Amino acid sequence: MISIPQNIQELVSYKPGKPVAQLVEELQLKEWAVLWNNENNLGPSPKALQQIEAALSNSHLYPDPSATQLCELIAAQNNCSADCVTVDNGSESVFDCMFRAFFEGDDELLTCDGTFVAVYIWAKANGVPCKRIPLARGYQFDLDRLVESITPQTKAIYIANPNNPTGAIITKAQFEQLVEVVPDHVLIIMDEAYYEYAKVISDEYPDSFTLRKPNVITLRTFSKAYGIAGIRVGYALGDPRLIEAIRKVRMTFAPSNLAQAAGIGAIMDAEHVNKTVTLNKTALQQFYVALHDAELNYIPSYGNFVMVDLKTEDAAKAFTDDMMQKGIFIRHLRAFGLPHCVRISTGTEAENDLFAKVLAIT
Ligand SMILES: Cc1ncc(COP(=O)(O)O)c(C=O)c1O
Repeated sequence: MISIPQNIQELVSYKPGKPVAQLVEELQLKEWAVLWNNENNLGPSPKALQQIEAALSNSHLYPDPSATQLCELIAAQNNCSADCVTVDNGSESVFDCMFRAFFEGDDELLTCDGTFVAVYIWAKANGVPCKRIPLARGYQFDLDRLVESITPQTKAIYIANPNNPTGAIITKAQFEQLVEVVPDHVLIIMDEAYYEYAKVISDEYPDSFTLRKPNVITLRTFSKAYGIAGIRVGYALGDPRLIEAIRKVRMTFAPSNLAQAAGIGAIMDAEHVNKTVTLNKTALQQFYVALHDAELNYIPSYGNFVMVDLKTEDAAKAFTDDMMQKGIFIRHLRAFGLPHCVRISTGTEAENDLFAKVLAIT
């Protein structure tokens, strides 16, 4: 019999829920809102779609393994040279590569409870111990405790900023303080999947790449504000020495021709991003009012989603089920280690109105 390593045995493969179309039919819904995956419900960047169409006829060719044009555009947007950029099939893929690129022996990853669940999964899949400390009050990353928890085994610290699913951020001042106190040999991974949303919500939100620290890697994605989650393009920004290490371990031809083309179109589509982040800002305010009126405890968010604390797991589950019966698909956060909470993504104007209307009569 083929043995399966213990760490892989302990993982549970991803079990998707029922597709929306099936739920809509089963529940006989007349109107509904899909607010469970932090996607961009306005749809994909139109310029990304144009570029995909133009690239289709090259589908018999392997992609440019260096994704030269896309990396150059990302570099230009971030005032750096292209050797500070690497792209892959979503930022989750870049993150996975980082385990092979940087971890060895008994190196550990250090992070908090209640952050992006894929982090725990990829650490375990790569056989890397993931040390987790509790979130601070207000569902913030507990930076003091993170720094105190660094040991000789700590290879990297992971921080999602804004954090998914809590929506909280660490500020510019906190980030600057963090890079001062974390030793140079510890890598700081700043996951900025919701960067485009956060930077228009608060001037206090830091761009972790601007300090050009040689031990900081910044992860970003085209999945959220650019609206091409299904195409799979994300990237890392950092010191060329670290970026080169990640490039060495990535799949040769990732991302695909079409994904590179989509990224090239998306990055030139400031109009779509502006429309998206402007709508999101309005939606968050609308959600806060609706949640306040419903006497529910929410955490102010810097992403395209709001976390609601319902105090008990039973209440969170019942709320999620009840919302689903009424056509609002939201995420219960048991898998994120926050079983008493739910997360609601913002949607289109019509979806946001529907959520507010349903909440008011719940
Ligand atoms: C914090 C965070 N990082 C990364 C991702 C995944 O991004 P990508 O689609 O680029 O893999 C998500 C998606 O939900 C996320 O919330």
